[in-house]
Amino acid sequence: MTELWAALEGSGLAAQVRESAVLYPAANVLHVLAVLVFFALVAAMDLRILRVLRGPPPARVVAQLRPAATGALTVIVATGVLLLLPEATRIVRNPAFLAKLAVIGLAVVNLAANDVALRRGGDRSFAVQATAGVSLASWLAVAALGRLIAYV
Ligand code: HEM
Repeated sequence: MTELWAALEGSGLAAQVRESAVLYPAANVLHVLAVLVFFALVAAMDLRILRVLRGPPPARVVAQLRPAATGALTVIVATGVLLLLPEATRIVRNPAFLAKLAVIGLAVVNLAANDVALRRGGDRSFAVQATAGVSLASWLAVAALGRLIAYV
């Protein structure tokens, strides 16, 4: 695994990000903007499921907003990789980064559970409500851990 991170750090793309004056800051700004959009969409879906927000049926809200949330998450992952590449060997040993990846894993599994629960149990089931709460908490934790990477 260590060789993989070293190879990524030594790649042409990593060198380009390191040497360019704009690539790293641009990826960083895009990463943060996509996080903002992603979290706004996640909050709209989860708060509708939790009945904090009024509006169309939760399943319809989720069906309408999920494609945009998936698009924002794709931008987050792509720009996250650009942020990782230049110093991959150092960042993959950072405890906040490792915790962030673990919580992303949990959030994705929870998302799948929420999807199944919403289709099978209806939008008032305990499983749907619980996974909507876990979703809000876990994506917030991911964002906080992302910010912490620079400090630990
Ligand atoms: C596989 C997916 C991801 C990767 C590889 C990744 C990678 C990174 C890296 C390398 C940094 C810069 C750390 C530093 O050196 O300061 C960062 C920052 C950050 N990430 Fe991610 N990230 C990913 C997904 C996410 C997600 C899903 C969120 C939030 C929902 C997120 C939120 C943040 C935040 C808030 C920062 C701090 C930005 C700043 O302070 O300028 N990241 N990420």
